[in-house]
Amino acid sequence: MENGAARTVPAVIVAIDGPSGTGKSSTSKAVAAKLGLSYLDTGAQYRAITWWMVSNDIDITDPSAIAAAAGKPEIVSGTDPAEPTITVDGTDVAGPIRTQEVTSKVSAVSAVPEVRARITELQRALAGSAPAGIVVEGRDIGTTVLPDADLKIFLTASPEARAARRSGEIKGADVEATREALVKRDAADSSRKTSPLAKADDAVEVDTSDLTLQQVIECVVTLVEEKRAAA
Ligand code: DC
Repeated sequence: MENGAARTVPAVIVAIDGPSGTGKSSTSKAVAAKLGLSYLDTGAQYRAITWWMVSNDIDITDPSAIAAAAGKPEIVSGTDPAEPTITVDGTDVAGPIRTQEVTSKVSAVSAVPEVRARITELQRALAGSAPAGIVVEGRDIGTTVLPDADLKIFLTASPEARAARRSGEIKGADVEATREALVKRDAADSSRKTSPLAKADDAVEVDTSDLTLQQVIECVVTLVEEKRAAA
């Protein structure tokens, strides 16, 4: 290196959006670990606030009740890709947020603007304080949360490929029922008024249907390295 000066690599912000079952979480975690970046699963935050609403008997069919309670729970995300954590008011909810009940209610809760404003604020604070940079995965990261991200990726896959992957993760799951539930949740997430699931105009779209996880990880790592080299 010239003059022996230490070269500081600027923090890099990577937004990875797309529907469920496209390999978003596995890819985002692996890319962050490989590049020494922090990692944030924004779906886990929406699941955590949904878990709190359900646990506190908030009527989730009533958006005004959800809005009134949106500021109450304290949601904290740990951003180490080797061991991401999520707590609500100090309680570890990593397990409870993955139940069928939370999964079936999260779209309704995350469609409420007051919930999105609250969670978006947490996301921006974490992204802004990650020392080396961060990989943030979600639905609206490139479009709304971090529109100035250095790199935006939009992962897609056929509904069949996504259902096969998701049902492989859940013991005893029925592929057809999983496909129907996925398509329904995507339709709700894509059609809501406030920051729907959408590809940013400047995002790179990667169809993962016929790629192995390893291939998707390598593809994204290469894209990040190219961005860094060009910066
Ligand atoms: O990624 P996931 O399946 O755990 O996300 C759960 C839900 O959270 C998803 O159905 C929609 C919502 N979500 C969102 O609205 N915005 C995000 N950035 C991430 C997730």
